[in-house]
Amino acid sequence: MKVKGKEYRTIWIEKSTVFMINQLSLPFRFEIYESKTYLETCDAIKNMIVRGAGAIGAAAGFAMVQAFYEARYKNPKGFLEKARKHIEGTRPTARDLFYAVEKVYQAGIRELPDRKKALEVVEMEARTLAMENEMNAYSMGKIGASLISDGMRILTHCNAGWLGFVNMGSALAPVYFAHWAGKRVHVYVSETRPRGQGARLTAWELHNEGVAHTIVADTATAYLMAKGRIDLVITGADRIAANGDTANKLGTLEKAILAKEYNIPFYIAAPISTIDLECPSGEHIIIEERDEKEVLFQTGLTNDGRMETIRVCSPGSHALNPAFDVTPAKYITGIITEKGIIKAEARAILKLY
Ligand code: MRU
Repeated sequence: MKVKGKEYRTIWIEKSTVFMINQLSLPFRFEIYESKTYLETCDAIKNMIVRGAGAIGAAAGFAMVQAFYEARYKNPKGFLEKARKHIEGTRPTARDLFYAVEKVYQAGIRELPDRKKALEVVEMEARTLAMENEMNAYSMGKIGASLISDGMRILTHCNAGWLGFVNMGSALAPVYFAHWAGKRVHVYVSETRPRGQGARLTAWELHNEGVAHTIVADTATAYLMAKGRIDLVITGADRIAANGDTANKLGTLEKAILAKEYNIPFYIAAPISTIDLECPSGEHIIIEERDEKEVLFQTGLTNDGRMETIRVCSPGSHALNPAFDVTPAKYITGIITEKGIIKAEARAILKLY
């Protein structure tokens, strides 16, 4: 995607340095963050400098490459095993992170103790995964755009756009394709408290791309649907169980239930790498719980242009901060994948393989 006329990806690697768009600075400042070690990349994933299922998948693959660069000691296998656990421990819910770590780790470990060869192989593997991530997003965009007709009003939640991927995104990819094809679309962007991925990132992306949109409070969904102001819902996914149950950003479940009530199609967009065949149903998906500070405090821009964090909740109270919820397959009209749109059910999912 282009920012001020220059083409960017969300994340990329050059030798052992990982570069990423700093998503904590957006939408106020556009900055590139550089991470030189695998531990720095792990911190960037944890702190959400890079975030979104697809983007943290790429980040995790790159972190594994950095670990191979750093594994020069007596026991490289031991070091790499520890590094792998550390990367996997950053965020537990998104399947793409585990998928990428496994692929890069296995590719490199086979070549050890030939360090040079191992480095060549892991770099190639991680770059290929990042490229596939981008290509899959294009396919999902092209395929998903068939669901969008001229004049549609689309609700999305969180950020499953190009910042959540290496490029283009999952849920927003069909929107971009429809927009480029000249269809008039209007996107309702739910804020996505507490981190505000909708209000900060999705809104910034859509504005940057010239797509008509309006930010709404997370609690506005029922009102909008009841008033007949939403024609279609598309969100991303962090992990899809073998039966189609889907974990996505907290707040997705209520949107899906409401969509069913108001007869509005509700689609998930995700690449096949997000599907976890070893996970039989949504109950088995581990849901990340994040620091209560994300709920109790908010960061924004002051009138004089400084980023500042302020408390927005009553002092002395505690908060609970689950990052995701699970939408049962029965609420999902379909899953947009890079291989086509399928039903959210075990048989259709298995057919993809
Ligand atoms: O901002 P995150 O990493 O906590 O959110 C995860 C997600 O990216 C969303 O749930 C998204 O819809 C998944 S697809 C990029």
